[in-house]
Amino acid sequence: MVYLMRSVQSSIFNANSQSEAGVFRRLWRLCCQIALVQSGVRSYLEPVIRLMRPNYRAGLQSATLLSISQQQGDLQDAYLQLQLKAGRSFAGFVPGQHLDLTVELDGVLVTRTFSISSPLQQFWQHRTLQLTMKVQPHGGLTQQLFARAGEPLPCYIGPASGDFVLEQSQSALMLAAGSGITPLHSMLSSLSRLTRPITLIYSYRGAGNLLFADSWPQLRARFPLLTIVLRDTCIQGRLTDAEFSAALSTLKKQDGECLSAGQSAGQSAGALQQTLTKEPMLYLCGPLAFSQYWQQQAKALGISQVRQESFGLSQQSHGEAVPVSATQHGGTLQFHSQGNLLKSLEQAGLSPRYGCRRGICMQCLCTKTSGQVRNELTGHISDAGEGLVQLCISSALTKLELQLDAVSTAAQDNTSCTT
Ligand code: FES
Repeated sequence: MVYLMRSVQSSIFNANSQSEAGVFRRLWRLCCQIALVQSGVRSYLEPVIRLMRPNYRAGLQSATLLSISQQQGDLQDAYLQLQLKAGRSFAGFVPGQHLDLTVELDGVLVTRTFSISSPLQQFWQHRTLQLTMKVQPHGGLTQQLFARAGEPLPCYIGPASGDFVLEQSQSALMLAAGSGITPLHSMLSSLSRLTRPITLIYSYRGAGNLLFADSWPQLRARFPLLTIVLRDTCIQGRLTDAEFSAALSTLKKQDGECLSAGQSAGQSAGALQQTLTKEPMLYLCGPLAFSQYWQQQAKALGISQVRQESFGLSQQSHGEAVPVSATQHGGTLQFHSQGNLLKSLEQAGLSPRYGCRRGICMQCLCTKTSGQVRNELTGHISDAGEGLVQLCISSALTKLELQLDAVSTAAQDNTSCTT
């Protein structure tokens, strides 16, 4: 780049005519823009490539937005279903995983994380996938998608990731609330056979908020070992502890019968014993308070194997306001923080990076030089030394020093985040 800029600079001085000098001056301005704005090697070429491929973005995989359909007509309680065609470089996904969706809105790239809700077979056949999302009252991206459904918005997707995936060798009890059903729908609709029983209890508020209404009868018909309980909380109220215990007992009984049937069908005693010792896996997906509550109940009932994915954060603040010193772009700001760190930093006037705001995408990762933080999802408390912090799911417990400028790639690759 430096060599190119030197050449362009000398060409300006050695130009034979005013118009030739003008061309080189424009080229010089383009080089300066590239050198000052872009950080990665591939990014240097982005402005040039975009002259031929306007949707090209370095480091992002372009996807075609095929359609946006709405469930419920008004903004309150509306859900959107996006059909996307993935580009050739998208490697696929495991049902239950999520990905980053980036949409270009009026020249600005906005990224949020969503679970994939469609079956794997749909991707294999058509290279398409579906994202289902609730329109958030303060969610810039989902509101824009709601308002601009039908417009050809440039979209990009990141690789699928996450370990909220189905363990097929175990029976499973799945509890979902609201849009927490999306990864579970992808898991269940991707099944080709089922050898261990699964019970799904899906709670939703009002008939208009029942997602994938057409899928449930089809899945019931295809898989006799799949029990689907659709629970409208406006009519039936919330799932009670007694109903949860009863569902678990029925599942265990059904699993026992299933294993006995396997024994009589000739499965070896050793393999059978191995599977018999396995407890059901509990899958939880819904608002944080929902997941935390059922996780505690599961613990009380002796269920040790739990996989969960949550959204939204606890509303309660954690103790006293504590002093925070945050450094960004060479300046340092001191303020007091109570509760969620990302919100506190924003309220203090800083602009930390973020994506999903629910602990998935790692875009809010920053360096903590000193102080202790609490992970609002797991309750884990960090040590007081230097480490990485996910701002969106952390709250300060002691005096804290943060470096908000981007952490190095090496640091991001280090998964031993302190929260
Ligand atoms: S914003 Fe996605 S992990 Fe914090």
